[in-house]
Amino acid sequence: MDEEKLQETINKMVIRGRGILAADESEKTAAKRLASINVESTEETRRQYRNLILTTPGMENYISGVILFEETLHQESDSGVLFPEVLQENGIVPGIKVDQGLADLNEGGEKYTKGLEGLGERLQVYKKSGVRFAKWRAVYTISKNRPSAEAIKRNARDLSLYAKICHENGLVPIVEPEVLIDGTHSIEQCYEATENVLRAVFEALKREKVRIDLCLLKPSMVISGKEAVNRADVDEVAKQTIKCLRATVPAELPSINFLSGGQTPIEATAHLNRINMLGEDLPWYISFSFARALQEPALKAWQGKQENVKAGQDAFLKRARLNGLATQGKYREDME
Ligand code: 13P
Repeated sequence: MDEEKLQETINKMVIRGRGILAADESEKTAAKRLASINVESTEETRRQYRNLILTTPGMENYISGVILFEETLHQESDSGVLFPEVLQENGIVPGIKVDQGLADLNEGGEKYTKGLEGLGERLQVYKKSGVRFAKWRAVYTISKNRPSAEAIKRNARDLSLYAKICHENGLVPIVEPEVLIDGTHSIEQCYEATENVLRAVFEALKREKVRIDLCLLKPSMVISGKEAVNRADVDEVAKQTIKCLRATVPAELPSINFLSGGQTPIEATAHLNRINMLGEDLPWYISFSFARALQEPALKAWQGKQENVKAGQDAFLKRARLNGLATQGKYREDME
């Protein structure tokens, strides 16, 4: 394991005021996002959209790393530069989603994540494109008996094996256990599920002897279900999230980069900000690795039209800047 190289990558990614952009939508998810603005998803429209986001002037002030989807590694900007190189030229570390999506785990509809087979070989190929970190997402649903012990155990094991393979191949692993926001559950139910999930993930990482100081964690926040009545407020989300992290996450982890998970862009920023305001003494850097909460306003402003590219980039840069402030607890809603 090339510790020095891994540490160097972490140093470039964990920078105060900055976070990670997730631009790794699979073809299926990209099609959904583009359909929301009535744009057909083709290789070219996906390239145009990635071009808008990834060539935004000034994004390097707030974004230290970008998670890409495999297709994007081989696509070029309007100026004919491969996207991973566009990022590197701006001092941004390119990374890649390496899981291969979800598959059924049991009759109860729970999922595990595909992609462990042949992962090491794939990582070696991706590295040739300049990527220095990877992402693997596991998902968990909340209901009466879920997430089940089986789902918690299986996904923790797979996340730890993935992280180990990343280290062996010189990539920093982003470990992403996402407890889904879908449903009517209370924040207390979300707390319990998230605590069980995170505890199992770190136990599995330790069992596999994965160096936690060379990993990044991308968790969901502890939050009420999207359809819950009386959803918990910003303060409560921040308090419960901090309590959960304190109970489960080892101090040697360098950084926690939340996903947005279906929160509105403003909600996600407000929550991140409050967590940083209340969590000043936490041992980790606390930042973002949002996809939707960074990109949604840009997508809406763009509408697939060349004349709106600048408006799309402005909208993206605004979210990046406000989330950058939120990593320092300096965001206020009147900045919107
Ligand atoms: P969201 O921020 O849209 O939840 O996406 C983060 C992500 O990368 C999901 O894997």
